[in-house]
Parts: sequence; C-alpha cells; structure tokens
Amino acid sequence: MVKIIELDGVKFSLDVRPGNVRGKSDKDSFVLVKHHAFLDFYDKVKERSNPKDIMEIGMFEGGSMVYFDKLFKPTKLVGLDLRAAPIEPLEDYCEDKDHIKTYYGRSQDKEGTLQAARENFPTGIDLVVDDASHLYAQTRATFEMLFPLVRTGGTYIIEDWAWSHTPNNQNKRVPWWKQKAMTNLIFELTVLAGSYPVIANMEITRELVSITKGPGTLPATGLDLSDRLRKKKMKAI
Ligand SMILES: C[S@@+](CC[C@H](N)C(=O)[O-])C[C@H]1O[C@@H](n2cnc3c(N)ncnc32)[C@H](O)[C@@H]1O
Repeated sequence: MVKIIELDGVKFSLDVRPGNVRGKSDKDSFVLVKHHAFLDFYDKVKERSNPKDIMEIGMFEGGSMVYFDKLFKPTKLVGLDLRAAPIEPLEDYCEDKDHIKTYYGRSQDKEGTLQAARENFPTGIDLVVDDASHLYAQTRATFEMLFPLVRTGGTYIIEDWAWSHTPNNQNKRVPWWKQKAMTNLIFELTVLAGSYPVIANMEITRELVSITKGPGTLPATGLDLSDRLRKKKMKAI
C-alpha cells in the first residue's frame, strides 16, 4: 500500500512495495521507499544530533534526498547512485539549491564514493545513510571508506540490513539467494565496537542499524579484526 505524507510543502508517496512495481517521482510527489518506523528514527536522529553535513548512498527516485533536505535543513547534502540516468524531478528540485550535489553512475564500493565524500566534506560528515545495494561486500567496503570521515558524535546508518531473515527470502529461487547475509556485517561491527572506542554506540532495529562514531580511528585493518577473535573463526551465514 502507498501512503501520502507531506513535509514542508512537498508531497511524498511512501512506497515500500517490491522494486519492480514501485512508482516514479514526478513534479507533484516524490517516491520515498520508507515506512513510518524509518521516518520516526530520522526524527530521533534530528532531535539528538541535528546533522548538517549529510551523504546518502542510494537515491532511487530522489524522495529520500528531498525528505532529508526538508527534515534536516542541511548545510550540504550529497547523494550518490549506481543508476546512470539523472532523476529528473530531483534535479528540478535541486536547480536553485547549491547545497545539494548528486552523483550518478557510481557504485558505492568504488573510489568515486570516497572522492565525492572528500570533495564535499573536507572537514567531516555528520550523517551517512547507506540505502543502496544492501549487499554484504559492497556495504562493508562503503563503511570502511566513509566511516573514518564521520565526525565524533556523528551517525552512520545502514538501512534494510535484515532482508535475509524475512519469510520471502527463505527461498532458493530468489536471485540473491547466494549473497551473504548483512548480519555478518553486524557481527563485525559488534566486534569493532567491543575492540575500539571508534564506535560509541550501536542501535539495531528491524529496519536499520545506526552507529554513533566515538573518538579514535578505525584500525588499519578496517573491519578485519581476526586478531580480536582469540583465533576462533566467525561462521558466515
Ligand atoms: C532502496 S533504493 C533507495 C531508496 C531511497 N533511499 C529512498 O528511501 O527512497 C536503492 C538504490 O540504490 C541504488 N544502488 C544499488 N546498488 C548500488 C551500488 N552498488 N552503488 C550505488 N547505488 C546502488 C539503486 O540504483 C537504487 O536507486
């Protein structure tokens, strides 16, 4: 079911149906792939940290970019997506807004993501939202690139990590059956949180994981923390 909401004069259609039947944004309304639990969480992020320098990976129809612009009133908002074709309603929205920058045709796990982040946020980022591939390896690589740029007290959110545990995904016929569960990344983040103060806090809901940056830096080995596993192996699922 699609629900319409309005924020600061812009209409959003909350469309969390499967990708192939989702609607398209147009000049009257932006498609936003989020239900209320996500939006409530972003209200909480605003209340507790009021982020102003924001980067989103995975723009789809541009609804989340516009929603974040209206909710957070950022100083700088950067979006990046693998899709090559610009999202026209989003580009129209951005036309008179110098603080928004969009990148198309870039894969989240490649150098171009880091480059875009460094170019736009030379002094750090307050909020990163990864709502892109939802694949383990790409999401992990993105985290290793961008988390070091998040300011102490800033937030790194990975949406929809729990897809592998939904009833629909217990079926060998889904095309991503052989993909590693994102839960493996949650385990690794937990080991990181237990090993180094670089993670101050981690909050896991069914919708997303939200990581608050602590002081300190990611170790040189990134998320490879085998030296903190007492020579035991983590079992991949
Ligand atoms: C779930 S949609 C994003 C929904 C949007 N954030 C919202 O809330 O309305 C996922 C988006 O990620 C993009 N994507 C998929 N794989 C990607 C990758 N490897 N790098 C960058 N973007 C990717 C897709 O093109 C798609 O636009």
